[in-house]
Amino acid sequence: MRTGLEAPVAPPHKLKEGPEAIAVRDVTRSFRSPRGDVLALEGIDLAAADREVLAVVGPSGCGKSTLLELLAGLGEPDAGTVAVTGERSREARLGACAYMPQRDLLLPWRSALDNAALALEVQGIARPEARRRALPLFERFGLAEFARALPAELSGGMRQRVAFLRTLLAGRPALLLDEPFGALDSITRAAMQEWLAEALAAEPRTVVLVTHDVREALFLGDRVAVLSPRPGRVVTELEVPFERPRPRRETVTDPAFAVLEERALEALEDGGR
Ligand SMILES: Nc1ncnc2c1ncn2[C@@H]1O[C@H](COP(=O)(O)OP(=O)(O)O)[C@@H](O)[C@H]1O
Ligand SMILES: [Mg+2]
Repeated sequence: MRTGLEAPVAPPHKLKEGPEAIAVRDVTRSFRSPRGDVLALEGIDLAAADREVLAVVGPSGCGKSTLLELLAGLGEPDAGTVAVTGERSREARLGACAYMPQRDLLLPWRSALDNAALALEVQGIARPEARRRALPLFERFGLAEFARALPAELSGGMRQRVAFLRTLLAGRPALLLDEPFGALDSITRAAMQEWLAEALAAEPRTVVLVTHDVREALFLGDRVAVLSPRPGRVVTELEVPFERPRPRRETVTDPAFAVLEERALEALEDGGR
């Protein structure tokens, strides 16, 4: 008998065959502004394998959000190609990605549960059924007692968890997370990073995680791409040789972690010069 606890939130379709779930090739993107064109991204090459977490770190304004918008199908590059699950069309990218924007964008009049259930309602699922499917996720990820709370009653960390569950419930193979913990204090942030690592171990997805925090990128990512200041270019890519989910203390005190952190910080500092 189904209890609802094993209700499927896994992607409804398998990823296409092929090594890369996400492939960005020689992408350039600029914006028109009254003071002339702004070149946001230049010659970006990035890839992520199925269920890999690719962390992208770079200074403010270097085009990180622009990159996620291109992946999500919210825009097109001026040059180069963007493919998700092997598909280049904008419609395919829109259908393959769940995008968690920088601000949590929870509806203030809906409970936490109904905010998460919205991911299913927009797919045409009636609210009672959407709630029924969303609730097990709240239970599994330690949020059951907050399901009925309104966003204003939740802490910043809790709101981000709800926004993440909504992103997960969309049932897409690729998750695009834009500075998910950027607005949180450092203690909450550390706890949230561990929570996200556990959640992704339980519900593996291909993830592009954007952050300006090198430690966060190294703690959560399988690979870390460091971008230069605008126009964003890939300065370096680092492999993170630790299994996920990682015990925080052991990981961040490991000498190999310190070496990677140093390399990433150096790459950020000289920005490819
Ligand atoms: N829709 C837009 N119109 C004009 N300029 C934009 C637009 N979106 C982003 N930009 C510009 O592109 C650059 C990169 O922005 P963004 O991708 O938001 O950077 P990041 O997320 O790394 O902080 C910035 O200079 C920003 O002002
Ligand atoms: Mg941004």
